Amino acid sequence: MKIVVTGCAGFIGANFSNYWLDSHSQDTVIGIDCLTYAANIPALSKLKNRERFRFYKANICDKQAVEQIFLAESPDALINFAAESHVDNSIENSRIFVETNVLGTQTLLDLCLKHGIKRFHQVSTDEVYGDLPLDSEDAFTEASLLSPSSPYSASKAAADLLVLSYYKTHGLSVSISRSANNYGKYQHREKLIPKAIRCALHNESIPIYGNGSNIRDWIHVEDHCRAIEKIVCNAASGSIYNVGGSAMLSNITLVKEILALMNKPQSLIAFVADRKGHDRKYALNCNKLICELDWRPEVSFSDGLAETVEWYTMNE
Ligand SMILES: NC(=O)c1ccc[n+]([C@@H]2O[C@H](COP(=O)([O-])OP(=O)(O)OC[C@H]3O[C@@H](n4cnc5c(N)ncnc54)[C@H](O)[C@@H]3O)[C@@H](O)[C@H]2O)c1
Repeated sequence: MKIVVTGCAGFIGANFSNYWLDSHSQDTVIGIDCLTYAANIPALSKLKNRERFRFYKANICDKQAVEQIFLAESPDALINFAAESHVDNSIENSRIFVETNVLGTQTLLDLCLKHGIKRFHQVSTDEVYGDLPLDSEDAFTEASLLSPSSPYSASKAAADLLVLSYYKTHGLSVSISRSANNYGKYQHREKLIPKAIRCALHNESIPIYGNGSNIRDWIHVEDHCRAIEKIVCNAASGSIYNVGGSAMLSNITLVKEILALMNKPQSLIAFVADRKGHDRKYALNCNKLICELDWRPEVSFSDGLAETVEWYTMNE
């Protein structure tokens, strides 16, 4: 197969491109990225040195530029990772989130339809379901109502609905994965885990929103890549799968675990004014992915976090 990976220079897109090249020895990955501030240039440089990887600098909203790539490469499948991904930025300025996450997805869908792509996979987020009370025992299923809180998650929910509309209206072969918070190598330092590690390395205070009680489910990025692979290769068109990590932690517990791994004092933690509309708790029911596609997370959170702390310490 020839697969297009949009957002190939970002955190998950770079990990996924490497994962796919490692596990599909006959396949070619066509990477597309417009290299925003979030792109990881060292990760992209390593990818560019790999056989069976080709890179095109293009914006997914630019129909002509992406169509030229489709004409040159005739890809079989497209996996859309490209997005504006930072909730805080979406609170400050949501327009670029609508442009990339909604109009960019629509542009790709049109091109996939026109060029007869065999599968369009949308990489979505658990944030499209909104949040749960902290003491709730519930978990969102794929049938739960979409109730996003931030402009970021609203733009991702809009993209999910567009993807499904191309399946229902045009019969385009599509799938969607809604993943929990990812961690692992190559993540931008604006995100909680790399930021906490970096601050701790420099003995700087680590800002935590509110009282740190917000709960997130954490999944190792390689487990997420394995889930997307299972879905792209096996799932029926039009299907949606939740992808959780079974590691539910409050932000404050997470940061304390990082500090303990690094032998740093808890006095580095600094509570700051809460984020506007801060979601309290995310929890996913992943029985569909487990039962239908035989997927399970393979990386334990304690091993994955220790390896991640080590990686950022070596690759600051
Ligand atoms: N990181 C997480 O925890 C998480 C969880 C669930 C879902 N997701 C989703 O996974 C996908 C990847 O997330 P990430 O954390 O790797 O994001 P990221 O911000 O690290 O990377 C995004 C990449 O997309 C590129 N990009 C942005 N706008 C573009 C455009 N208009 N055209 C082409 N390229 C563009 C950027 O240059 C960057 O390389 C996103 O769709 C995100 O919504 C992320």
